[in-house]
Amino acid sequence: MKPIYLDHAASTPVHPEVAEVMMKIMTEQFGNASSVHAFGRSVKKIINGARDAISSNLGCSPDEWVFTGGGTESDNLALFGAAYSRKGGHIITTAIEHHAVLHACEELEKEGYSITYLPVDQTGRVALKDLEAALRDDTFLISVMLANNEVGTVQPIEEIGRLAREKGILFHVDAVQALGSIPISLSDLPVDYMSFTAHKINGPQGIGGLYVRRGAPLHPRLYGGLQERGRRAGTENLAGAAGFAKAVELAVKGQAARNEESLALRNRLLEGLDQGIGRDSYKINGNAEHGLAHITNISFPGVRSDVMLMNLDMEGIAASSGSACTSGSLEISHVLKAMNLADDRLSSAIRFSTGLGNTSEEMEHVARKIETILNRLRIKG
Ligand SMILES: Cc1ncc(COP(=O)(O)O)c(C=O)c1O
Repeated sequence: MKPIYLDHAASTPVHPEVAEVMMKIMTEQFGNASSVHAFGRSVKKIINGARDAISSNLGCSPDEWVFTGGGTESDNLALFGAAYSRKGGHIITTAIEHHAVLHACEELEKEGYSITYLPVDQTGRVALKDLEAALRDDTFLISVMLANNEVGTVQPIEEIGRLAREKGILFHVDAVQALGSIPISLSDLPVDYMSFTAHKINGPQGIGGLYVRRGAPLHPRLYGGLQERGRRAGTENLAGAAGFAKAVELAVKGQAARNEESLALRNRLLEGLDQGIGRDSYKINGNAEHGLAHITNISFPGVRSDVMLMNLDMEGIAASSGSACTSGSLEISHVLKAMNLADDRLSSAIRFSTGLGNTSEEMEHVARKIETILNRLRIKG
């Protein structure tokens, strides 16, 4: 069997239709969108076409969309962009955000802003009452992700956003993992900033976007030209923007089917595990009711995550033990730690994330290989 990729939450293969759009642009178009000549105008038309298409698929105005270099940049732009529009104050976020948010908050903390990191329950969900209790007179920004990248837990962002609106507090949402799984209609959501990236939805790496509600403050992070209405200087990523637009179109159109397929793949994996190793041999980390269908985080107590990952890799199966940025180290995931799980569950968690190209045969194969690996390790142990 060919290698099996179950790490779509880290990055996804580029969809052939996206690659086709990008290839056409890369081979046929060149020039700088800021140039006034015909080459420049043609490029500008493509970028604005991509902006129009994305905005229409996500339900915002084209002027509310800022192209960035990816999810990390979008998160940083939102947080620093809101914070630097004022002096000092209090920000509320959660303990399970991506490091793009957490490390940005740590930096802001060093600069004199105060930050509250909300706890989560054992399924990774934030409680509204904890948010309410954390509010202060000087709270100016709340940042909560729509869906978590390690365990897939979905947060109640509409309720949080309504509360933020009521109190006149800005609200940023990292929707990087949620796009393509959860319907998003920006103008209907009580949200001021929302971060996206193309490479999680079968688009290219190195391009993302930030929704900035009209009127929401945004201090720029980059200085230079007046691209993106002065909000993000730098020559635009032409092929990336067009590829991203195609990926968003496919992700939104295919959302329902994708969720169904993801669920079927997960069920196939779990059925295989139940038959092979038995339900008592593993624990699922996340929220069964509010969760992304394509992310399944499973602990195999007694087998360390790195040992399992190495064995899976030897069998040609690519999975992950947490976010890609920390999976090179043995460090226990901050997300699972915040969920307060038992130690043997923390140290043995594996994230399987499915997507384009995965089949039910692959999931059966993975379940069988996990059984083989566990048997092998138990005999050895
Ligand atoms: C929830 C979340 N936010 C932000 C990012 C960063 O996005 P990018 O890789 O495009 O910088 C990721 C990527 O893993 C993510 O999962």
